[in-house]
Amino acid sequence: MGSGDVEDVFKDEKSPPPLDEDDIALLKTYGLGPYSTSIKKAEKEIKEMAKRVNDLCGIKESDTGLAAPSQWDLVSDKQMMQEEQPLQVARCTKIISPNTEDAKYMINVKQIAKFVVGLGRVDRNKYQIQIPLPPKIDPSVTMMTVEEKPDVTYNDVGGCKEQIEKMREVVELPMLHPEKFVKLGIDPPKGVLCYGPPGTGKTLLARAVANRTDACFIRVIGSELVQKYVGEGARMVRELFQMARSKKACIVFFDEIDAIGGARFDDGVGGDNEVQRTMLEIVNQLDGFDARGNIKVLMATNRPDTLDPALLRPGRLDRKVEFGLPDLESRAQIFKIHTRTMNCERDVRFELLARLCPNSTGADIRSVCTEAGMYAIRARRKTVTEKDFLDAVNKVIKGYQKFSATPKYMVYN
Ligand SMILES: Nc1ncnc2c1ncn2[C@@H]1O[C@H](COP(=O)(O)OP(=O)(O)O)[C@@H](O)[C@H]1O
Ligand SMILES: [Mg+2]
Repeated sequence: MGSGDVEDVFKDEKSPPPLDEDDIALLKTYGLGPYSTSIKKAEKEIKEMAKRVNDLCGIKESDTGLAAPSQWDLVSDKQMMQEEQPLQVARCTKIISPNTEDAKYMINVKQIAKFVVGLGRVDRNKYQIQIPLPPKIDPSVTMMTVEEKPDVTYNDVGGCKEQIEKMREVVELPMLHPEKFVKLGIDPPKGVLCYGPPGTGKTLLARAVANRTDACFIRVIGSELVQKYVGEGARMVRELFQMARSKKACIVFFDEIDAIGGARFDDGVGGDNEVQRTMLEIVNQLDGFDARGNIKVLMATNRPDTLDPALLRPGRLDRKVEFGLPDLESRAQIFKIHTRTMNCERDVRFELLARLCPNSTGADIRSVCTEAGMYAIRARRKTVTEKDFLDAVNKVIKGYQKFSATPKYMVYN
């Protein structure tokens, strides 16, 4: 505007001299401060720079300083505001000077570090133990641990010499003398499958093993693993082995494994898939643990022919121990075992009784003994005579023959 005025002034005069370039340049500087141009230049450069930076990081700045409303998540923000600061879960790895006033605990915060701490109240600037969490294992799995040792010993098992020997070799030797296997460079068998007709002492022997070892003993009945919901059975197996691994030494005994260990087949409906999944998890877990490690697996079944071959292949259940019918000598021994606590006549001929019960199992013989006792009670006698035993043999062995499962077992195997 200033220069316009000047021109007007010149127009009013008669012969305004034309302006040369120097004049124009001079006129243009009129009214400007000494640094205006350099400031303008710097401002322009700054603008350009900011634009380039924004382009590079791809952020568009809004004039309020907030993110675009479409990106707001008020609900979760509110929740975050309401939530307390979380406590951290750490694992206590060591207790320094336990049971004293100033016991210290070494804790391991996952992926951060280890700290030595005391027990304390909530204080967010320090690490202190607030609540010790129990190990996370399904209570129904924890229930399966056999806490009280059964009162059955190897002495209560009549006959079965070979079976006991094989079982002890697999269960006790690797646990007591692992160095023997290391020296030889072989892996001890991971597990044993006990099979044989019902009532021949499979469960009995497993209980004797449980009594004998100091190892933790977990007993699972196959049907316990058949659950209502899909995946539950497999999860229980996983937690079972997880618990077993946490022990120093552990024996897992699956009784009546045919409930879940049946051969895989397709029934077209997929009904039994769940059961198969549970069995496959067992197979998987059998592969998973180290044979030289602390877990031994025992299984028992009456129907070995129905089991899935995958379960039985070497490397999983390496040992298969057959429980046959007891022979004459064993039967006499079983008679003696079961009459040990009975009030019998002095000279009962158990060898004769044993001879009278061919093809009978340990359970049959036990039943004979009970029945003999019943005869004595009926006759109001305080001792059991040989006659009672003979009557009982007649009743149990001859009379109940049609209930015997043994012939059926023989047909299948
Ligand atoms: N070899 C044996 N010696 C002593 N008792 C036996 C023997 N076999 C079986 N019995 C008796 O029969 C009962 C049932 O045996 P069990 O081991 O449960 O059979 P299963 O082989 O079907 O698991 C036992 O509680 C025990 O009293
Ligand atoms: Mg049994």
